[in-house]
Amino acid sequence: MWVSQPLFDDIVARLDEHFDVAAMHEVADHTPAQVAAALRDVDGALVTLNDPVGADEIAGATRLRAIANVGVGYNNLDVAALHARGIVASNTPDVLTETTADFGFALMMAAARRITEAEHWLRAGHWQGWAFKNMLGMDLHGSTLGILGMGRIGQGIARRAAGFDMRVLYHNRSRLPESVERECRARYVDVEALLAQSDHLVLVLPYAPANHHIIDAAALARMKPTATLTNIARGGLVDEDALADALASDRLAAAGLDVFEGEPVVNPRLLDCRNVVLTPHIASGSLATRRAMVSLAVDNLVAALGFGPNAGKPPNVIATATKPGL
Ligand code: DGY
Repeated sequence: MWVSQPLFDDIVARLDEHFDVAAMHEVADHTPAQVAAALRDVDGALVTLNDPVGADEIAGATRLRAIANVGVGYNNLDVAALHARGIVASNTPDVLTETTADFGFALMMAAARRITEAEHWLRAGHWQGWAFKNMLGMDLHGSTLGILGMGRIGQGIARRAAGFDMRVLYHNRSRLPESVERECRARYVDVEALLAQSDHLVLVLPYAPANHHIIDAAALARMKPTATLTNIARGGLVDEDALADALASDRLAAAGLDVFEGEPVVNPRLLDCRNVVLTPHIASGSLATRRAMVSLAVDNLVAALGFGPNAGKPPNVIATATKPGL
């Protein structure tokens, strides 16, 4: 087995029962050539979003039978290419839903109430005395929350919004059953209405080439100038230059970004904006959840290769035809 990144040694050690394991001990953004070399002589691999796995990377990997992605998003995998070779691809949904929804809500609140901006200002010694109009932000309670991508995490965010008495609108590739809409107190609208009516818009949809830069200059222009935008999905969904323009010109009140198009490089224009909260792709990053993700990925890999209680039936196989919500 190849374990592409440092994960949790005690959990990864479960692979030792069945396999010889080569585990990497340094975090790395592997190049396609490095991934291809690492996969050449293995039966399976645990990979993360740092590791692209497509047709070229598996071309010489004649033994490869399973790729277990440690993450719910899998835009680093070319699932069609893996399937064409009969390689089982899996991901780690569900175990990260609530943790990621917590973080999405926190990021949205931080952006709306200018929490990191205020802290930077205070630490820089600018606070000379209490002032009535200092750092005025946007309310969450009683406002309209828009959720683009209403999978498990989107629904988790909607459920949290009930505690803030928010009106919840959502758009998704397909409308949810009425019972789920009722439980989430969420109303289905088209993208136009979502952009125009949201006070706080959160992106939780999977990245696919079809929705590259779905939030571009035109979309931003349709949002309220008092609105906030939060992205906890994938950076490629947002045109970051257009967002920087909107933030710098106060066309948009604020943004919270946990994901970036060129990770780990952050668009320098965003770094220059005072009204954006920036975090390093940590939405699922509680200790318990990251451990649960690794554990599930190990279960998936062991099962895909015919061992353990789910032998031959890994719990989280990614189907070629489906692009589930996050
Ligand atoms: C996910 O699970 O998709 C997170 O973004 C971390 O990989």
